[in-house]
Amino acid sequence: MSNKLIVALDVETAAEARELVARVREHAGMFKVGSQLFTAAGPAIVREIVDGGGRVFLDLKFHDIPNTVAAAAREAVRLGVSIFNVHAFGGREMMRRAAEAATETAEREGRMRPGVIAVTVLTSFDNATLGDIGVTFTPEAQATLLARLASTCGLDGVVASAHEIKQVRSVVNREGFLVVTPGVRQRAVAGDDQKRVMSPAEAARAGADYVVMGRAILQAPDPAEAAREVCEEMTRADAAAAG
Ligand code: C5P
Repeated sequence: MSNKLIVALDVETAAEARELVARVREHAGMFKVGSQLFTAAGPAIVREIVDGGGRVFLDLKFHDIPNTVAAAAREAVRLGVSIFNVHAFGGREMMRRAAEAATETAEREGRMRPGVIAVTVLTSFDNATLGDIGVTFTPEAQATLLARLASTCGLDGVVASAHEIKQVRSVVNREGFLVVTPGVRQRAVAGDDQKRVMSPAEAARAGADYVVMGRAILQAPDPAEAAREVCEEMTRADAAAAG
């Protein structure tokens, strides 16, 4: 079965996160801890998931001066996460220092080195929101530029919508360069803010290494069953692509 599914633990409390992890762990390749849960429950919840054998994508999108981001990267390694991310808008030096700090800390302290990936352009951005902050490129062009820069800086991948994957792969021709894709659902979700969505199978076919799914699983009547269906769908898509 596919373990490309990252379940976003976008919940308010450690207790809710714990319950979700227990329910879907069999079908989730990884759990995403983002700003909401991290602010509410802190690093303790990350340690708890890791100690219980779960893999964690720490989605805190670090964006600060290079020295501070390098220090945060060291702590992410010590937390034992499998992937963490930084904003590519933080620039060349910041990304380079984050990747180096991860490597050095893992080597020096005998720990696993997490994948360090870049957020290029948030999926909530369009031409107008980029224009507001002085960026005249289209979201696609800006995302492509930043994906190339992230690779040059030694990062291990990017977060990219399924629609951008082809473009990313065309500018970063590196084996193992990870593409982690949000905006994936099997069907519409109530109150949805994701304008351009793809199904798990479409994302897998488009070349996503992982898909991130939150509400479609969290709000399902049976989250475990929803996660199982997603994995099955991606496994079928992979098998079909393999021939
Ligand atoms: O929409 P869903 O609940 O599946 O979102 C899961 C994760 O995907 C969120 O935690 C967020 O980080 C990311 N996301 C995104 N772009 C959106 C909506 C969500 O990157 N438009």
